[in-house]
Amino acid sequence: MGGPRLCTLLILATTAWARALAPRAPCRGYQATNVLLSDSYLVADLALIGNCSQYSPDITNLRLLVEYQTDTRLHVLITDSDYNVYQVQDQVLPRPNSQNATAASAKIQFAFTKNPFSFNVTRTSTGEVLFDTSAAPLIFESQFVSLRTRLPQNPNLYGLGEHSDSFRLQTNNYIRTLWDAESPFIPNQQNLYGSHPVYLDHRGASGTHGVFLLSSSGMDIEIGQTASGDQFLEYRTIGGVLDFYFLAGPDPAAVSKQYAEVVGLPAMVSYWTLGFHQCKYGWPNIDYVAQVVANYSAANIPLETVWGDIDYMDNKRDFTTSPVNFPLAKVRQLVSSLHQNNQHYVVILDPGIKNDASYSTYARGAPQSVFLKAADGSYYRGSQWAGEVVWPDWLAPKTQDWWSNEIKIFADPGTGVNVDGLWTDMNEVSNFCNNVACTNSQAAVIARTPPRRRPRRADDGPGPMKGLPGRNLFQPAYRINNHQGDISAKTLDTNVTNADGTVQYDTHNLYGTMMAGATRQALISRTPGKRPFVLTRSTFAGAGRVAAHWFGDNFSSWDHYRTTIRQLLAFATIHAMPMVGSDVCGFNGAAQENMCARWAALGAFQPFYRNHADISAPDQEFYRWASVADSARKAIAARYRLLDYLYTAMHRATSIGDPVASPLWFPYPADTNTFGIQTQWFLGDALLISPVVDDDSTSVTFYLPNDIFYDFWTHAPVRGAGATVTVNDVAWSDIPVHIRGGSIVPLRVSSANTTTQLRQQNFTVIVAPGLDGTAKGYLYLDDGESLDVGSQSSDIVFTWDGQKFQADGTFGYATRVVIESVVVLGGNASSEAESRAQTHHGPWALSEAFEFRA
Ligand code: GLC
Repeated sequence: MGGPRLCTLLILATTAWARALAPRAPCRGYQATNVLLSDSYLVADLALIGNCSQYSPDITNLRLLVEYQTDTRLHVLITDSDYNVYQVQDQVLPRPNSQNATAASAKIQFAFTKNPFSFNVTRTSTGEVLFDTSAAPLIFESQFVSLRTRLPQNPNLYGLGEHSDSFRLQTNNYIRTLWDAESPFIPNQQNLYGSHPVYLDHRGASGTHGVFLLSSSGMDIEIGQTASGDQFLEYRTIGGVLDFYFLAGPDPAAVSKQYAEVVGLPAMVSYWTLGFHQCKYGWPNIDYVAQVVANYSAANIPLETVWGDIDYMDNKRDFTTSPVNFPLAKVRQLVSSLHQNNQHYVVILDPGIKNDASYSTYARGAPQSVFLKAADGSYYRGSQWAGEVVWPDWLAPKTQDWWSNEIKIFADPGTGVNVDGLWTDMNEVSNFCNNVACTNSQAAVIARTPPRRRPRRADDGPGPMKGLPGRNLFQPAYRINNHQGDISAKTLDTNVTNADGTVQYDTHNLYGTMMAGATRQALISRTPGKRPFVLTRSTFAGAGRVAAHWFGDNFSSWDHYRTTIRQLLAFATIHAMPMVGSDVCGFNGAAQENMCARWAALGAFQPFYRNHADISAPDQEFYRWASVADSARKAIAARYRLLDYLYTAMHRATSIGDPVASPLWFPYPADTNTFGIQTQWFLGDALLISPVVDDDSTSVTFYLPNDIFYDFWTHAPVRGAGATVTVNDVAWSDIPVHIRGGSIVPLRVSSANTTTQLRQQNFTVIVAPGLDGTAKGYLYLDDGESLDVGSQSSDIVFTWDGQKFQADGTFGYATRVVIESVVVLGGNASSEAESRAQTHHGPWALSEAFEFRA
C-alpha cells in the first residue's frame, strides 16, 4: 500500500534535489508575448525567462498595458497577470482620465524589445531617448521589483521628495528612499515625512520631461553610474506594480501642469491663509497666547492667525481642551475676540487616539470599527502624545463619519472651539512605541501573513489588487534605506490590516494624505461652502488636492534657513503642492537674532508663512528682537501689498497647474547656469527672490539671466547679463527682489493689519516692460473663501504693448475697490529709471475691461 506513495515522495525529493543542484538560469527578465496593438494602446503578456528570485519569489506572468492617454502623457503599467499585486486605490488617488490619444499625434513614443523585454520612451520631434530600460532586466518578484533606465551623463534631475538634499539631485552614489518617517534632524539622503515618486529630467534647450511612478510601496531610487561610467536611475521597490506616467513637457512649466493633471490640481486656499501665522509648542496657557496676540498688535506687526499646538488639549487627547491651562470658556473667548478682529485660530490634531473607553472620542469610534486592527483582530495599539493609542483606519467604512462628527462637536461655533482650520501632525504614522512591550503586536509578529484569500479561478476577471498573500510583512529581504531601520520601526506594524483587506506594508505612505483628506471632508461638512484649510506633515503624490504642508521639524540654523528654498522648489514646482513653507526662524534650538531677521523676510516670500518653534526652544515671536520686528514689518507689508499677486498665482496653480514658485530654469530653460541654482526662486512668474544666504552676512551674490529686471523696492531697471551680481550692505530687514521684465504685477496701494482690511485697499499696477517693450500679468479676484465661487470671480489679464495698457478677461466679482494707478517702469537700463517711470492715474473700476494709451 505504501509503495507507490513512497515512490512518489522519492521522485519529488529527487526532483527538488536535482533542481537545487542544477545551474540556476541567469536572471534575464521577461519575454513579451501575445502582443495586441492599436493606435492608442498596446497590451502584452510578459513571461519570465530564467530565474531571478533575488529577494523573494519571481512572479512568472505579468501583463503590460501601454496607453497614449493624451498627446503629452503616456501610461505604462506592468502588473501581475492576476492583478493581485497591490495598486494604490482610486479612492486614495483617482487615476486621470484617458483622452485616447494616438501614437501618431503623441509627443512621446513607446517602443519595446520582445526578448528579453525592455522598453524605451523617445521624444517624437527629435527621437531623443528619454527612458530606456534595456540596461538591466526587469525584476518583478513578490517583494522586490526593480527597473533601471539609462540616462545621459550628468543629468539634471529634480524631485523624488520629500527630502532636504540638493534641489538638483546628485548624479552618483545617491539613493532616495521613499518611506514616510518622522525625521527631527532632516538628515541628508534620508527619508522624510512624505513620498513623491516623480522626477523632472531637464535637458536644457532640447526639452524637459517628467516621470511619475504611481506607487506607495517602500522604495529606494538610486541615481548612479556603473563601473564603466554609464549613468542610470534605478527603482527598487518592496512590492507594488510599475505604474508609470511619462510626461512630455517639452518646457518645464508644461511638465508641472501635466503632472498636476495626473495627481489632481491642488486645492485653492482661502485668502486669509496667506496672512502671517504664529505658532509655538509649549505656550503654557491661554492667557499667554492672548498676550502673544496683544504683543503683536503692540509691536505693530500684522498677525493673521494664531495656532494651538498640543498644549491646548487635555492630556494630549484630540478634541479636548485642558481644564487648567486652556479651559474651554477662555479658549472660546480668545477665538471670538480673534474673530472680531478678523484674525484666525487653527489647532493641531494627531492621529493617535487615546485607548481609553471613558474618552468619548474613543468610545464613539470603537463600536464602529474605525480603528486599525492587529493581525489577531483586536485594535492595534501603540504610543503617541496621548499615551497608549489606537489609530483611525481611513479605509474603514465608518471612519469618515466618525471623524467628521468628532470635528463637528469639537469645533461647534456655539459650544466648542470655533477653529478656522486644522493641522494634522504625526501622520507618517509616528509611533513612539518601538518594541513589543508597549503594543499588542506580538500576536502580529507570529502571524506574519495577511489572511488567506480564496484561490483565484481562471474566470475571476481582474483580481482585487490588494496585495499578495504570503509575504514577509516585517522584514522583506530587500531592505530599503529607511533611516529608522526596519519598515515597522517607529511607525505602525506593517502587517496591520486596513478594513479593505490591504496592509500597512502597502499603504504606509498613504496614511498622512488619507488623514488630511478625511479632515478636509470633515471641515467641508462642518462648514459647507467654505474652503477648508488643512496643514499636514505627511504627504503622498497628489496631497496638494487636500492640504497644505510645512517642512517639519527643522532647526534654527542658517543651514536650514537655506534648505527651505530647495524644499519650496521641490514641493511647489515638482510635487504640485503650492501651499508650503517652513517653520520660520526654525523649530528646534534657539533662534539667533540675525538669522531670524533674515528668515522673517525669506518666509514672507514663500506661500505658507508661519513662525513656529519647539517646546524646548526659547520663544521666538518676531517682536522679541528689534531687528527681527523691523524685518517682519517690512516683509509683511511687502507680502500683503503683493497678496493678490500671490493669490492669483495660487489660483493659477489650482486651476491650471502653473507652479506657484519655480527655479530660474523654468523661464530660462536653455540657460545652463541656472540648472544648479537653489538659493533663488521665482514667486509666481514675475518676482525673483534672491535672499542673503550666507551665515550672518550682509552681502549676497546672485544670478541674473540675460534679461531685463527691475528692483522691486526702487523700481530701478537692472540689466541681467547671464552672470552673477553682488550686492553689499544688505540691511537685516532687506531682501533683494526683482520684477522680471515682461511682467505686470498688481499691488494693493498699502498694507494692512489683517487680510480682511487689506481687501478694502485699492490697487496700483506695476508694468515692467520686457526687452521687447511689452508686458503681461494677471489678477484673480473672488470673495476669498467660497469653495465654489461659481461665476462670482474675476480673471483679469493685463497687457502692455509698449503704448497701450489693456485689462481684459472676465469680471464676475463685484468689488468697490479700484485700480488707482498704473505705473509703467522705464524700459531701458538706466540709473534714473524711477524718474522715467510713468504713472497713469485712474481710477479704473474692476467691473469691466478697459484700456488706455500712454
Ligand atoms: C511634531 C510637529 C511639531 C509640533 C510637535 C508637537 O514634532 O512636527 O510641529 O509642534 O509635534 O505637537
